[in-house]
Amino acid sequence: MGILKIQPQVAASNTLFDKLYRKEAKIAVVGLGYVGLPLAVHMASKFRVVGFDINQKKIEQIQQQQDPCKELSHLDFIGKDFFATDIKNLLGVAKFYIVAVPTPINNEKQPNLAPLKSATATVAEYLKKGDVVVFESTVYPGCTEEVCVPILEEISGLTYKKDFQVGYSPERINPGDTKHTFTQIKKIVSGSNQEALDVISKVYEEVVTAGIHKAPSIQVAEAAKVVENIQRDVNIGLMNQLSQIFSEIGLNTSEVLEAAGTKWNFHNYYPGLVGGHCIGVDPYYLIHKAAQHNVASDLLKQVRNTNEGMIDFIVSKISKALKIKKPSCNNCKILVKGITFKENVNDIRNSKAAELCLALQRKGYTVIVQDNHAYPSEVKTHYGIELTIATNQHFDAIVLAVDHDNYKKLTYSDYLKNARMDTVFFDIKGDKKDLFPKNVYMSL
Ligand SMILES: NC(=O)c1ccc[n+]([C@@H]2O[C@H](COP(=O)([O-])OP(=O)(O)OC[C@H]3O[C@@H](n4cnc5c(N)ncnc54)[C@H](O)[C@@H]3O)[C@@H](O)[C@H]2O)c1
Repeated sequence: MGILKIQPQVAASNTLFDKLYRKEAKIAVVGLGYVGLPLAVHMASKFRVVGFDINQKKIEQIQQQQDPCKELSHLDFIGKDFFATDIKNLLGVAKFYIVAVPTPINNEKQPNLAPLKSATATVAEYLKKGDVVVFESTVYPGCTEEVCVPILEEISGLTYKKDFQVGYSPERINPGDTKHTFTQIKKIVSGSNQEALDVISKVYEEVVTAGIHKAPSIQVAEAAKVVENIQRDVNIGLMNQLSQIFSEIGLNTSEVLEAAGTKWNFHNYYPGLVGGHCIGVDPYYLIHKAAQHNVASDLLKQVRNTNEGMIDFIVSKISKALKIKKPSCNNCKILVKGITFKENVNDIRNSKAAELCLALQRKGYTVIVQDNHAYPSEVKTHYGIELTIATNQHFDAIVLAVDHDNYKKLTYSDYLKNARMDTVFFDIKGDKKDLFPKNVYMSL
């Protein structure tokens, strides 16, 4: 006997989801970066999707089925109902918009909402009655309805909750992580009313294998996202502070954490650099919101300061070690391995490894930097640093700044091609103590 396969009931009804499912209506994804492009391409396995970005160079690459962020392979584009464009008029064909543009901070560490406002204004130009706009960019609670909705209303002339609906669904992808990919991470969804929540839930359920979590409001969904990243910031900040204390009293932090980690309810976090555009940025969004409401956020600010202060701490540890081990060394030479904001990605935005290189340069050291993931031209433009592919030089210190997979494979004898027996090894991740002789190995 054959198995009866139940198909979604789309033929009889004519909701927005039905139209999307039957490909009579399109989804538009605005912003095709680390978040937007994988999202658009996955959505395009079930729906008709148009992707829009203001970066023409990026669009040209995507049209060649290449992901500039290297999160997708050429094969991921095959068979997808997806078209990428920088012509904004083409957004007019959509009924369901998803906005995934950057939400950085400015020099005063305040939210820089310019890209979000501008992308919202673009959507507003094409907004029609019955449309739904979902925001995926990380924001503070309240931002979607306080900042984006008024732009949508003003430019479109339509009325929120009557003519169009809005939702918020934070993105939780972890670049470079091949296990927790878009389809494998539970998606938080929220909507401005039950009808919006229904269509948004159904759309994401079609493509996210891990399922969805319906948040009771847009603000709850917005807050949940920043909290996820704040929790990591705080926990790493605690480890960074402990590392500074233990360093001063002569204890090895990783030995302490290894011992403490044998307790059943100990949470394993490690000291390190907190960079990138999520964990090192999102806490400032909630700090901003707290200030608007005159609520103290001292703990969050303190953690940010501690984590930002790790560069000075590492520079001072390296320079102390060099003074002791190489007292006669003027203009010591340091090799830094890795400059991206984290391992196995090419993203250099807000990279603390890059800031560490610059801080070492300012200290007077000659700093040579290697990274096989980062684009050399981007590194040069953003940080003024020339990447070196291979070098035969011998260095006074080698800093293992970013633990890319190809560095993980290196043995001590590989490192000795660029080192002498007294070269200092500073391992930021701190998991290679068995690789190096104890007298030259340092970590946080
Ligand atoms: N990258 C991540 O790992 C990650 C994870 C979770 C959440 N987020 C959040 O998702 C959002 C997007 O981040 P991202 O890493 O994809 O950024 P990104 O910089 O990689 O991509 C954003 C894209 O938006 C485009 N853009 C900017 N302004 C635009 C506009 N007005 N109209 C159309 N396109 C525009 C840019 O050209 C760029 O291609 C941010 O809020 C970020 O905090 C990122």
